[in-house]
Amino acid sequence: MEEKIVIANLKMNLNITEMSEYLKRASELLNDSQVVFCPTNIYIPYFLKKKFGVGVQNIYYEDNGAFTGELSPLQAKQIGVEYTIIGHSERRIYFDETDSIVNKKIKAALKNNLKVILCVGETKEERDMLKTDKIIKRQLINCLRDIEDISNIIIAYEPVWAIGTSVTPTKKEIQSITTYIGNIVKTLYEDIDLRIVYGGSVNSKNIEMINSVDNIYGVLVGGASLNIDELVKIKEVVIK
Ligand code: PGA
Repeated sequence: MEEKIVIANLKMNLNITEMSEYLKRASELLNDSQVVFCPTNIYIPYFLKKKFGVGVQNIYYEDNGAFTGELSPLQAKQIGVEYTIIGHSERRIYFDETDSIVNKKIKAALKNNLKVILCVGETKEERDMLKTDKIIKRQLINCLRDIEDISNIIIAYEPVWAIGTSVTPTKKEIQSITTYIGNIVKTLYEDIDLRIVYGGSVNSKNIEMINSVDNIYGVLVGGASLNIDELVKIKEVVIK
């Protein structure tokens, strides 16, 4: 497997003073293209000046036009952005993003040669009703519909109940669900070397356990990534 990845989803955080300090420390300690920062769009140009990877947290599915407030994948690519997260559960929950919107966004991103981090995962209710497999299968099939080449897609398994809660699945659970994701994708695509990352309450204490799951390509880190020292510790375990 190629070198692993650590994706920092900064969400809608950091004021300008905090961001300058954060960026200064990040560029001193984390200059590695396999560490990918996803700040808010307004900070993207500052992050692009550094050596690490840069991604956006969301894009729109049209390249340009009268879509006030949206982010163009074409413009993101042209300015130097390499990755985009698509289908994060916060987008699905707060902004009503459906699998079909996610599917359109993935197509638009791939058309513009952006690498996609596609988030899938079950809510607590779905988990309690033992529907995890069913939900993940539905998300994968619908979100990847009519997409022929998925070599630029990373799948992020992010159980919604683990996001921002300090609760994580066990190693066995992560292993079992990521294997399931791999099997579903194999039924849709032959000979694909699928890259799966885990996200949801990743921190410096649980990273050894998470990183020891077979075939995990890396992690998607939210809250803990706002603390550079935490992020450095996580990176040191994942990327040797
Ligand atoms: P968390 O967020 O690490 O704060 O749980 C992860 C995510 O939302 O991608």
